[in-house]
Amino acid sequence: MSRKRAILLVALAAATGFLAWRFLRPLNIFTISPAFERPIDTRAAPPALGALRAEGCGRCHQAIYAEWRTSMHSRAWTDPYFQADWRFDGGQQVCKNCHTPLDRQQPQRVLGFRDRDKWDPILAANADYDAALQHQGVTCAACHLRDGKIVGPYANLDAPHPTRKLSNPNEICLRCHVVQGARWDTFYRFPPCGTAAEIAAGAGRAGGRSGEYVVKDVAALGCVQCHMPLVKRPLAQGGAVRPAREHLWRGGHDPRMVAGALDARLVEVDARAKQRRAFELVLTNVGAAHFLPTGTPDRHLTIEWRLLDSAGAPVKTQRATLERLVMWRPFIVDLRDTRLAYREPRSWRFEFRTGQKPAPSRLEVTVRYHLLHESRRRRIDYQNREPIDYPVYVRRIDLAGPAAPARR
Ligand code: HEC
Ligand code: HEC
Ligand code: HEC
Ligand code: HEC
Ligand code: HEC
Repeated sequence: MSRKRAILLVALAAATGFLAWRFLRPLNIFTISPAFERPIDTRAAPPALGALRAEGCGRCHQAIYAEWRTSMHSRAWTDPYFQADWRFDGGQQVCKNCHTPLDRQQPQRVLGFRDRDKWDPILAANADYDAALQHQGVTCAACHLRDGKIVGPYANLDAPHPTRKLSNPNEICLRCHVVQGARWDTFYRFPPCGTAAEIAAGAGRAGGRSGEYVVKDVAALGCVQCHMPLVKRPLAQGGAVRPAREHLWRGGHDPRMVAGALDARLVEVDARAKQRRAFELVLTNVGAAHFLPTGTPDRHLTIEWRLLDSAGAPVKTQRATLERLVMWRPFIVDLRDTRLAYREPRSWRFEFRTGQKPAPSRLEVTVRYHLLHESRRRRIDYQNREPIDYPVYVRRIDLAGPAAPARR
């Protein structure tokens, strides 16, 4: 064998080995930042607040407690989808720092880390562990307890616990709703759950590079303004009525929240040939400053067109998927992003022959929101009791009746 050939073979073997390793190694899709590398330290909590359980706060803050109980935050640990995904991913500790963020919610304490990237924590039994508190997921104290004080918008009230003023309420969201991803091997526009970066990048239009996003203007993010609408009520039982905020945080699990952000228009347009009819669907994200959908890249929308005959049997169907498609291996690369940017209308067309047999009688258009793909559901063995998708827009047009309103 010539020397040149030997060198080539060695190089080839090395490249193959490297790629094989890229396919087999554990996949960490984000980097761990100081914001959530450890659980929140509750040792300085005022003794008056007792076990820090939500129902304790709820003794005085009843209306807020009742709302929080219905939220996904209160289910961030018990949520069966999270549980299935967490187990599938090897039950990593770091997930708990956002899904059960208080130190007392975790059976083990984090003493330090074995590796530089902090994926391998040194753990020890936690004497203060409270299983009931763990089941409360993102509980009141997860957002409100900082350095032994309760942070809030006022801080000059007569409260039975020490308070401190929040400089900006959106600050609270960032601990868990921003992950970074800047690494040599990542090539994406936004980190995996890029909600805040999507807003900062100008309604999702401008593209940054590789997820090195750092929040610059917290006030401009608007998370609290949209996800915690203003209400007027007493903050605590029997107190004065003040401006306050709903504690519901509706998002991808609430059909009304998603549908409310989606403007959909279906109109008949000129067909490209005779003996044909054509329809156009225009979708606009009018309500979410980030992409619609946002959050984990599993979230997606589908548009389904169904042309039916008079017996309801399909004559022609067409489907489109609006999603962020990321290639995870061997390198993390954003392949395509067809989600709806804020206030940017997009259109889809459906055309069919009128003279065919059986004759088209009805057109149905459905836009559905999907929490995750069915293939992923099966892969992680998530036995869902609640549907993993739901319609956010449905329109049926009787083709025999008067034509739909003509275009513009
Ligand atoms: C014994 C009753 C009581 C308990 C228990 C209690 N609070 Fe309060 N809290 C109050 C009162 C009273 C106020 C002031 C209300 C007012 O003046 O309108 C207050 C105010 C607040 C504020 C607003 C602070 C500000 O200045 O902006 C927050 C936030 C808050 N409480 C969170 C909590 C949390 C979280 C818990 C549980 C860990 C809790 N509270 C437990 C009675 C209570
Ligand atoms: C301690 C971590 C943490 C903080 C702080 C936090 N969140 Fe969340 N949030 C989560 C987790 C975890 C979930 C997912 C829960 C699940 O679906 O299992 C979530 C879910 C949501 C959802 C989606 C609900 C749905 O229907 O899918 C919205 C909206 C949301 N958060 C808004 C906010 C806002 C606004 C703030 C700031 C006021 C905030 N969050 C602060 C951890 C946090
Ligand atoms: C996901 C984070 C988060 C959780 C969980 C949370 N809060 Fe809040 N809460 C906030 C934010 C942000 C504000 C400030 C809103 C503003 O600027 O007015 C707030 C405001 C408050 C206030 C002041 C009055 C108001 O409505 O603005 C009280 C009291 C309060 N929260 C109590 C609670 C209690 C009790 C719980 C649990 C049952 C709870 N919060 C859970 C984020 C949270
Ligand atoms: C202009 C209003 C608006 C602003 C500002 C906004 N959101 Fe949303 N958000 C929405 C609407 C409407 C939805 C439902 C449609 C969707 O999923 O995009 C939503 C959905 C979500 C979801 C659900 C995703 C999921 O996985 O279920 C999360 C999480 C979320 N927002 C977090 C945030 C955070 C964090 C911020 C601030 C960085 C923010 N939002 C700012 C309106 C807003
Ligand atoms: C930096 C905080 C953070 C960490 C760390 C984190 N999550 Fe989450 N997780 C969130 C937030 C915030 C949401 C909801 C908004 C969204 O979709 O981005 C969420 C949503 C989810 C959901 C969707 C839940 C639903 O009901 O739709 C799953 C599943 C999930 N996380 C699994 C995990 C697993 C597994 C890990 C560990 C490998 C993990 N998370 C680590 C913050 C975090």
